[in-house]
Amino acid sequence: MADAPTNLVVDLGERSYPIRIGRGLLGSPGLLDEYVPGNQAFIVTNEAVRDRYLDALLSSLPPSVIADFTCIGDGEAFKTLDTYAALMEQLIAGGHNRTTAIIGLGGGVIGDVAGFVAATYQRGVAFIQVPTTLLALVDSSVGGKTAVNHSRGKNLIGAFYQPRCVIADIGTLQTLPPRELKAGIAEVIKYGVIYDAAFFDWLGINLEHLLALDADALAHAVAESCRIKAAVVQADERETGLRAILNFGHTFGHALEALTGYEQLLHGEAVAIGMVMAADLSSRWGKLPRGDARRIKDLIARAGLPVTPPPVDADAMLETMGMDKKVVDGRLRLILTDAIGSAAMTDQAPEGAIRTTLEAGEALCAE
Ligand code: NAD
Ligand code: GLY
Repeated sequence: MADAPTNLVVDLGERSYPIRIGRGLLGSPGLLDEYVPGNQAFIVTNEAVRDRYLDALLSSLPPSVIADFTCIGDGEAFKTLDTYAALMEQLIAGGHNRTTAIIGLGGGVIGDVAGFVAATYQRGVAFIQVPTTLLALVDSSVGGKTAVNHSRGKNLIGAFYQPRCVIADIGTLQTLPPRELKAGIAEVIKYGVIYDAAFFDWLGINLEHLLALDADALAHAVAESCRIKAAVVQADERETGLRAILNFGHTFGHALEALTGYEQLLHGEAVAIGMVMAADLSSRWGKLPRGDARRIKDLIARAGLPVTPPPVDADAMLETMGMDKKVVDGRLRLILTDAIGSAAMTDQAPEGAIRTTLEAGEALCAE
């Protein structure tokens, strides 16, 4: 039975949309009635998610809607222009018009690709996010970043394109593999570090409930994370300033993902290590008390996430970090923290301190 959902709104004027958070939302008749503009829908998913949640999604569509669905390959390796092109071909072959709603049912890979297709098919059609991983519920489904990867870097081809709504059914998390759950918890911890010290403290108390998939704890963590993400996106939709704090740990993390061939680490795991590196650099540079850096590392470790980078060369890391989208005029810009609950972007971090962090290994955030 469905619990009463929490309804949040991402307030972006005419592009505003609701985030509905609850258990058992999928399958409710009428759930999507106001967000599907015509009588066609095109659902993008993968086989693992289709087998579990497609029927429930279909029963939440208006009865008059004719829905096509398609499965793309599973995983980051399929977040490509080839997948994008194949989806475009299917839309055209299926006679989908400008009133088609494209629905992304799955994790961040599905949401990012489906969103980019929605942003560009016939110059933009209605898009609905139905995230099914914790990472997607708390992060990728909210805020309108859509993209595919290029061999030279992640998310290099994409668009800002807001969905019509986000259906965050925490019931879907019950089937998530534990490793994927932990990867999502990394992004949840990120919100506490960058924005909300009280939420960080709550996570310290409730982490084991999240790991045990306790529904109340998950609902609270998803709602708080989405509340923070919505506040940041509302203040800076196109990432001209504040929104960059959502990338805390990501410049290090993206470089680790690239240097390990996108195979060794999940995105959330790379971000976890990246956050430990960012906390280490913040304290090494004298901005963050060492004890707070240690608390960040300890919470990440308690979540069962990696806190030590795989052996990668510091020069290779610096070179790869130089490909980051936040680099401007050749200057590396990093998100650092001066206190738990606060973060800002800087291009002033001394290269010597960055290099020491890159070489610290197990000594990251140590006393
Ligand atoms: P993912 O989409 O690869 O999903 C992880 C795995 O979980 C997949 O194997 C998938 O099949 C499986 N899965 C999904 N839902 C399931 C369920 N309910 N039960 C069982 N298995 C399930 O990975 P992800 O971590 O969700 O997303 C990572 C992607 O998100 C990356 O490409 C990253 O760049 C992107 N991202 C985007 C944004 C954004 O703002 N757009 C933000 C953060 C991350
Ligand atoms: N995950 C980073 C952003 O949405 O801006």
